[in-house]
Amino acid sequence: MELRERVLVTAALPYSYAPRHFGHLAGAYLPADIFARFKRMRGAEVIYVCGTDENASSIVIEAMRRGITPKELCDIYYPIQKEVFDRLGMSFDIFSRTSKPIHYEVVEKFYKRLWDKGYIYPRKVKQWWCPSCRIYLPDRFVIGTCPRCGAPNQYGDVCEVCGSWYESFELRDPRCSLCGARPEVRTKTHFFLKLSALADEVLEYVRGKRFWRKATYNKTVSWLEKEGLRDKDITRDYEWGPPAPFPGAEGQVIYNWAENLLGYISATRDWAMSVAGDPERWRRFWLDENTKLYCFIGKDNLFFHTILFPALLIAHGDYILPYNVVVNEFVNLEGEKLSTSRGWVVWLHDLLKEYDPDVIRFYAAAIAPETRDTDFKWQDFAEKVNGELIGTYGNLIHRVLSFIYSRMGGVIPEPGSLEDRDREMLDLRGRCADRVAELIEACEFRKGLRAILEFAQEGNAYMNEKAPWRDVGSAGTALYVLAQLVFSLAVISAPYLPFSAQKILDYMNLDMQVEDLGWSDVVREIPPGHRINEPKPLFRKITAEEVRRKLSELESVRRRK
Ligand code: MF3
Ligand code: ZN
Repeated sequence: MELRERVLVTAALPYSYAPRHFGHLAGAYLPADIFARFKRMRGAEVIYVCGTDENASSIVIEAMRRGITPKELCDIYYPIQKEVFDRLGMSFDIFSRTSKPIHYEVVEKFYKRLWDKGYIYPRKVKQWWCPSCRIYLPDRFVIGTCPRCGAPNQYGDVCEVCGSWYESFELRDPRCSLCGARPEVRTKTHFFLKLSALADEVLEYVRGKRFWRKATYNKTVSWLEKEGLRDKDITRDYEWGPPAPFPGAEGQVIYNWAENLLGYISATRDWAMSVAGDPERWRRFWLDENTKLYCFIGKDNLFFHTILFPALLIAHGDYILPYNVVVNEFVNLEGEKLSTSRGWVVWLHDLLKEYDPDVIRFYAAAIAPETRDTDFKWQDFAEKVNGELIGTYGNLIHRVLSFIYSRMGGVIPEPGSLEDRDREMLDLRGRCADRVAELIEACEFRKGLRAILEFAQEGNAYMNEKAPWRDVGSAGTALYVLAQLVFSLAVISAPYLPFSAQKILDYMNLDMQVEDLGWSDVVREIPPGHRINEPKPLFRKITAEEVRRKLSELESVRRRK
């Protein structure tokens, strides 16, 4: 008996102190969504989980800056993040929060187990302490020079230039990120995760992952070979976040990167309780070897997911490990690195004010940074949207449906006898679907989109060749075939462009929800005699004027810096 495939999809939990930008969409949420939607269409048992990452030091700092509590800050951002993702059609089965009691419970149990198994031990550590703020300065509370590569202005946990992790105390020339004061040294007992004891098992795990993207695999292996795994301080001296459940750790919480990853588990449990209506249902996903866990992230989160997360899960012992960690590079803006503080960024909530979600999804998939950094360019955005999304995809759909609607009485015609060329076009549906499926399975989403556009292009060429407008009376076969192609295009593009796929279903008067489509529907016949609705153009063209306006807005950001 063939087992129904079971897939657990996660995308990086967004911090709940700042909105998300286009690069985040292209780098994590959209590929994960395409994958999840596709797998559901294939009949797999899928859940796609996400939620806000609410216990980071950056959240505590931002709340202090605004004079509100971290909880208040998170309560402001949670609905903002959720709304943007909803509007973009992210098909999350749950969008949870790491401030929920279930997360605290998961973290507590998890770390009690690690303590019991001897993976946690106390050690005296030196800590920076700010004499004017009168607080300890872990992670983002302190800024200084990276102890590994010498890059200035790095935070106390991770260097954004070389990507290494270190303890805050190793930072050179430290200053308090709140007031700029030079900190003093204090000694405290902290709790360490014995990563060194897990190094061999993690390396063995990673060596079994040659099918990961090359850069992901190579970076992970060379990190393990070069740096090895050092034990990691996982407790912190502030009051926000899940408490460290170790004897003697009273008043300390678990370090953000040692608890947020467990947010994938707690989000699944939240889903089981609040959506699936069966609090035990999460077990089928996290405790069953047959489940494939796919984690979608940007490269700044790489080592946490390819090394720390597996290490934690191995130490615990019950859970499955990531099957694939799908890592994307970054999306730059007009040839320059993003800078959210300078405003050199394209925010998703701003894009949504002017553009359809599918237009945004289309461009994010078209320039997905799968193998190298890519560039958001307004001119390119306009060219690709106008030329490909509208000119190729939208064009085929609209010209076929409007021709049937206005010239064929709105009814799919009875085909005459099919010629080779017609059959060839009908066969193309299955072949294209197989190709797209293969590419999505391989997490090559960009190429998958190309294959869809090529299919639409073939449809356009066929229509030009048949030129039904020359003799409507004998155009029945061609239009019958074209109507089938349009429906197939809805099916194949549904993971990428779910809103447009839904519109096609509506224009074709099919009384179906895009979520009900199966991948094999690609060859389903829309029968002759079926009456369609009046179609409207799917998208609006982007004007040259609009591009100029966007570029001049950016120009003023550039001048301000
Ligand atoms: N909040 C992190 C970021 O936005 C990602 C956390 S992913 C998690 O970069 F798994 F650790 F939650
Ligand atoms: Zn200070």
